[in-house]
Amino acid sequence: MKKVSMNIDGKTVEAQEGATILETAEAMGIHIPHLCYNEQLKVYGGCRLCMVEITKNGKKRLVASCAYPVEEGLVVETSSEKVKKIRRMIIELIWPVAQDLGREYGVTASRFRAANTDCSLCGICVRYCAEVKGSHIAYFKGRGIDREIALVPGMGKECLYCRECFNFCKGSKILQEMDRVYA
Ligand code: FES
Repeated sequence: MKKVSMNIDGKTVEAQEGATILETAEAMGIHIPHLCYNEQLKVYGGCRLCMVEITKNGKKRLVASCAYPVEEGLVVETSSEKVKKIRRMIIELIWPVAQDLGREYGVTASRFRAANTDCSLCGICVRYCAEVKGSHIAYFKGRGIDREIALVPGMGKECLYCRECFNFCKGSKILQEMDRVYA
């Protein structure tokens, strides 16, 4: 497969065409925090925790590294001041599941209203259920601040045996929801 030459954090890399910035950086040993990315699932680009700063045609901008493909001549900064600033904001937005990361970024509390759940709405359980299992049992319910993960009532018997998505859930929300529905 074709390679493209680009630069990440000052290091030149021959990246695999078609790969994303996140995949390429991780392969170079450069860690970019991410939440909704999962290599088994389609790109979602929902949490924005993986934002990086790119320079293209002399212009800088922030992009979600899990969704942005590598390009010839691209310059990427994974921890510029702008990146750190937006990452701190996102950590506050998903505070209950990002407290460990918060320590790394000097965030000690969230300015935003505390959600009464530790679910970050990364949607990995919903997408895994649909894309990998073909089941569509976990789903997003509600809108805005009322949005939450739910299980289709009466359809979740197989969840009791499957439990595969639990491994990806950082807030244990899907487990709590299952306990609530099937207690
Ligand atoms: S990991 Fe890239 S947007 Fe969530």
